[in-house]
Amino acid sequence: MPVLDIKTFPDPVLNRACRQVREVTQEVRELARDMAETMYQAPGVGLAAPQVGHDLRLVVVDCSEPEEGQNPIVLINPRIVEAEGATVFEEGCLSVPEYTCDVERYERVVVEAMDLDGEPITIEGEGLMAICLQHELDHLEGRLFLDRISPLKRSMYKKRRLKQIKKDQA
Ligand code: NI
Repeated sequence: MPVLDIKTFPDPVLNRACRQVREVTQEVRELARDMAETMYQAPGVGLAAPQVGHDLRLVVVDCSEPEEGQNPIVLINPRIVEAEGATVFEEGCLSVPEYTCDVERYERVVVEAMDLDGEPITIEGEGLMAICLQHELDHLEGRLFLDRISPLKRSMYKKRRLKQIKKDQA
């Protein structure tokens, strides 16, 4: 079981824009650590604070190959400063159970953020890392990959998901 409870669609915390982290406090460091643990246990390659119920601009990503071990990258107040190209990848999300769909995104992005020491960092991502960064940063704006697919596909998933929730509650 993940250490933190992962919020799933249609939980309203997932579609709110998040607040800037003003100061890297002990609380923020602990949240980042717990998020990383939750991400590895899920397992996933990225997790954003709203997915565990915090409306803070904080994400954890790790797109390492299994043989490379765990290399979590914590990004505080991240923003995309460069983006180019286009790529399509079949995305999923820990907050969107039992669904994947092709999503178009930039092929390469550069993200500036702050690390857990409050120092500025720059991350350049291509391929899976670029997709992961854009997906996680979307979460901070209250956007899911569902918001980047066709309205028809989105409404079909919504219907199926709400039916499933009703069934689970019965
Ligand atoms: Ni996600």
